[in-house]
Parts: sequence; C-alpha cells; structure tokens
Amino acid sequence: MDRFRYDTIAQAVHWLTAIAVIGVFASGQIMDDMARGPAKTQLIGLHMSFGVTVLVLTVIRLARRIVVPQPEPIPGSPLVQMAARAMHLALYVALVVVPVAGVLMVWAKGRGVDVFGLFTLPPLIGPDRGFASNLSEIHEFGANLIVILAGLHAAAAIVHHAVLKDGAIARMLPFGEPRHG
Ligand code: HEM
Ligand code: HEM
Repeated sequence: MDRFRYDTIAQAVHWLTAIAVIGVFASGQIMDDMARGPAKTQLIGLHMSFGVTVLVLTVIRLARRIVVPQPEPIPGSPLVQMAARAMHLALYVALVVVPVAGVLMVWAKGRGVDVFGLFTLPPLIGPDRGFASNLSEIHEFGANLIVILAGLHAAAAIVHHAVLKDGAIARMLPFGEPRHG
C-alpha cells in the first residue's frame, strides 16, 4: 500500500458512506413533506435501512482505523492538520449520533426497525413520547450538521486539489498521484 493513500477498503467505505448519506438525507427531507400513505411508509422503510447501513459502515470504519495503519498526513501547518483532524472527528461523531438517534427515536415510538426486510431490530427501550420527540430534534439537527460539515470537508478537499495541488483527493481514490511534499 502507498503510505500516502488510504487502502481500498477505506476508500470504498468512504465513498459508499458519502453516497448513502446523500440518499438518506434527501429521503429524510422528501418524506417530511409527504402525505401519510403507503408511499411514505415505503420511503421511511428505505430511509431507516440505508440509515442503519451508514451506522454499520461507520462502525467498520472506526474499528479498522484502530488496527490498520493510516496514511501519513498531508504536509501542512500544524493548525491546518489539527483542523482536518477535528473535522474528521466531528464527521465521525455525527455519523454515529444521527443514525443511533434515529433508531432510538423509532424504538421510543414503540416500533422496531426493519432493515431491508432482512431482520428487525426490536425495541430495546419502552415507548416514551417525550424522549422520542427530543431524539427527533437531535436527529434533524445532526442530519443538517452532517451535510454542512461534509460540504465544508468536500470544499477543503477541492481547494487542496485545485489550489494547493497536493494530490489530496487522490489519497481517497484508486487513481491519480497523491503528492507528498
Ligand atoms: C446518517 C443517517 C441518517 C440521516 C442523515 C438522516 C436524516 C434525516 C432527515 C434529514 C430527516 C428529516 C427531518 C425533518 O426535517 O424533520 C429524517 C427523518 C427521519 N429519520 Fe432519519 N436519518 C438517518 C438515519 C436514520 C435511521 C437509522 C433511522 C431509524 C432507524 C431514521 C429514522 C427517521 C425517521 C423515523 C424520520 C421521520 C421524522 C421524525 O420523526 O423526525 N433515520 N432523517
Ligand atoms: C457525506 C459525505 C462525506 C463524508 C461523511 C466524509 C467523511 C470523511 C471522513 C470521516 C474522513 C476521514 C478519513 C477516514 O478516517 O476515513 C474523510 C477523508 C477524506 N475525504 Fe471525505 N467525506 C465525504 C465526502 C467527501 C467528498 C465529496 C470528497 C471530495 C471532494 C472527500 C474527500 C476526502 C479526502 C480527500 C479525504 C482524505 C483526507 C486526508 O487524507 O486527510 N470526502 N472523509
């Protein structure tokens, strides 16, 4: 493995997460505006299934980070490197908190979470409307936060690539030259 490039699994999980987050966020917004009915129920089912997928991908990613050596950081001022680390940490926290709040919210409404019709996560907490409503706020706020953070993160990656020309995006791609110096 190139010591300046994330390995193939880290790359795959990164881009699958990015695509899933966009789909889950968009479906969340759309279902919010839909009238009750079978179409809405079906969309919520997909939203929950892909949302749980984001959580599973994030847990795999965090676990791998502990055991697999990470590429060397992009050279730069300590302040910028600290900002990048803080951004990644904030994204990770949000990628865990938002789907967990989603699952807990559905449980607190007294329902289980069906995942692609394959299995159901049965409620591990009792019904509690007040708790469900707080979790709904956290879920919505956190979802908006992910999109803002990911937007800033993508903008930073593009500035690295296009302005600083340090091959930063190639670190997360199987092609291109991640430059280092
Ligand atoms: C990264 C993962 C997720 C993102 C980005 C996300 C995003 C969203 C968004 C943007 C909304 C609309 C909020 C609003 O405007 O009211 C929403 C609603 C909702 N989400 Fe998620 N979601 C995720 C994961 C999950 C999971 C794992 C579940 C449950 C298993 C879930 C269950 C729900 C439900 C039931 C609603 C309906 C509205 C409510 O009562 O707040 N979500 N989600
Ligand atoms: C929802 C969208 C996204 C999320 C949640 C996300 C999340 C993350 C996280 C947590 C990392 C830390 C590395 C790791 O531990 O795997 C990372 C790295 C990275 N991301 Fe993203 N990302 C998203 C979208 C994007 C986009 C659109 C781009 C490109 C335009 C991008 C480019 C990169 C690059 C180049 C790195 C490596 C940075 C480095 O080596 O310091 N990401 N991303």
